[in-house]
Amino acid sequence: MGQQPRARIKVDTDRVIGVVDPRLFGNFAEHLGRCIYGGIFDEGSPLADSDGYRRDVMEAARGLGVSLLRWPGGNFASGYNWKDGIGPRDKRPVRPEGAWGGVEPNRFGTDEFLRYCERLGVQPYICINAGLGTIEEAREWVEYVNESRHTYWADQRRKNGRDKPYGVKYWGLGNEIDGPWQLGHKNAEDYTKFALEAAKAMRRADESIALIASGSSNFRGDWVTWNRVVLERLKSEIDFISLHTYIGNRENNFERFLAASADLDERIEVVEGLIRAAQAGAANPRPIHIAFDEWNVWYRARGGGEFATGRTRLEEIYNYEDALAMGMFFNSFFRHANIVTIANLAQLVNVIAPIFTNEKGLFLQPIYFPIAEYGKQRGNVALNALVTSPEYEVPGKGKLKYLDVSASYDGKGKAVYLNVLNRGENMDISARIDNVEGKPDAQVDVWEMNHAGLKATHTFGDDHKVRPVTRTVRVSLRANGFTYTFPRHSLTILKLKL
Ligand code: AHR
Repeated sequence: MGQQPRARIKVDTDRVIGVVDPRLFGNFAEHLGRCIYGGIFDEGSPLADSDGYRRDVMEAARGLGVSLLRWPGGNFASGYNWKDGIGPRDKRPVRPEGAWGGVEPNRFGTDEFLRYCERLGVQPYICINAGLGTIEEAREWVEYVNESRHTYWADQRRKNGRDKPYGVKYWGLGNEIDGPWQLGHKNAEDYTKFALEAAKAMRRADESIALIASGSSNFRGDWVTWNRVVLERLKSEIDFISLHTYIGNRENNFERFLAASADLDERIEVVEGLIRAAQAGAANPRPIHIAFDEWNVWYRARGGGEFATGRTRLEEIYNYEDALAMGMFFNSFFRHANIVTIANLAQLVNVIAPIFTNEKGLFLQPIYFPIAEYGKQRGNVALNALVTSPEYEVPGKGKLKYLDVSASYDGKGKAVYLNVLNRGENMDISARIDNVEGKPDAQVDVWEMNHAGLKATHTFGDDHKVRPVTRTVRVSLRANGFTYTFPRHSLTILKLKL
């Protein structure tokens, strides 16, 4: 207990992986439980503005630094007809909802979503219905949203109060179509036929859109083949392939829980390889990146069967160790910044979310804080830091470093950010930190999340205990570096000024 084994972190601002894309700080809002109704949108609530948007949720979403918002699902998307959600609200149909077993009042639809994004200053990302929907509906949706001429659907938009096209750039070609739980689930052959024609038709409506193919929903079964076929058949049309993953501490083993980075790194690298393989030999291949457009910790609030129509609201209450997992996810995304350029936390509010409301207010879950903090590194370049660290053995994954690290560099501000997760449950780790290109300033800014109780949670009126602290420390420099001790089970971001 408590010994301080030595680790080493060496940063070199020339070893650039790629830009920390602002779209890595995306989020997701699905018609599910209380994410939209009672979360984002709460008509008649004293906390909502005249359009029905919850002001407190908007403020919390701003603080989270959301850049891109995916909507309307998720599984919901595969049964959704967007035409139900436009026009006068009181005339919209109320429908049974097939993915999660609720009733959809359709009071929040395309215009409400896109106005919300504009208010929030985030880019919208719409996922089409590639389950029960048709290609023509998808094409018409693009026309409704983006067409500037006087066409039927553009004029419907004008009738509904919006003259100027919204200019939605990001369009998902369906959600988790590989999953048997999905309404309108398809095999890879049928999906790629559909998606190819949908892409063609949607681009005829607006050729400037970016398209995201439905990659493997998780990493079960033959996920490699699904992704290979999707890439092979859709490579000339798509800009991104989407991946999803949810993790959980089912074994109640802290160090194994945070070993999920090994899977994450491996899967990203496999899909990167599949992208390269699909493009091999082409003179001028269309660039394709990974959109990790659903990720989070999710294992407690799952309802009946994992994807059963369980009428569950997915109201996961997050604890301190889940907050550390946020650092683990971002470290992996940063380490693969050349290929992962979109990521959407699932989801924004109430449903597996960092923001949790009731009719009187909200509280911020522990996972909120690392997400907001990593977001401040957007636009930096991710660096390939050299890390040596004491290791631990994880069944099925081999040896893993206790320190899980990513780094980024802000060239304008001349600062290196070191993001260090110490996943040693009971082990402080002292590390020698060196900057190859010269002496850093002896004053180092520290952001640290640390709590004695791994299972500590927040609730209404009590959301201050699992929060980060910040301080500036004076390190004692030797050559180009110094020694710093990363406390057991903590997440630290060090800002070194060069
Ligand atoms: O985010 C919750 C659900 O998880 C989404 O609807 C689905 O895409 C995924 O399986």
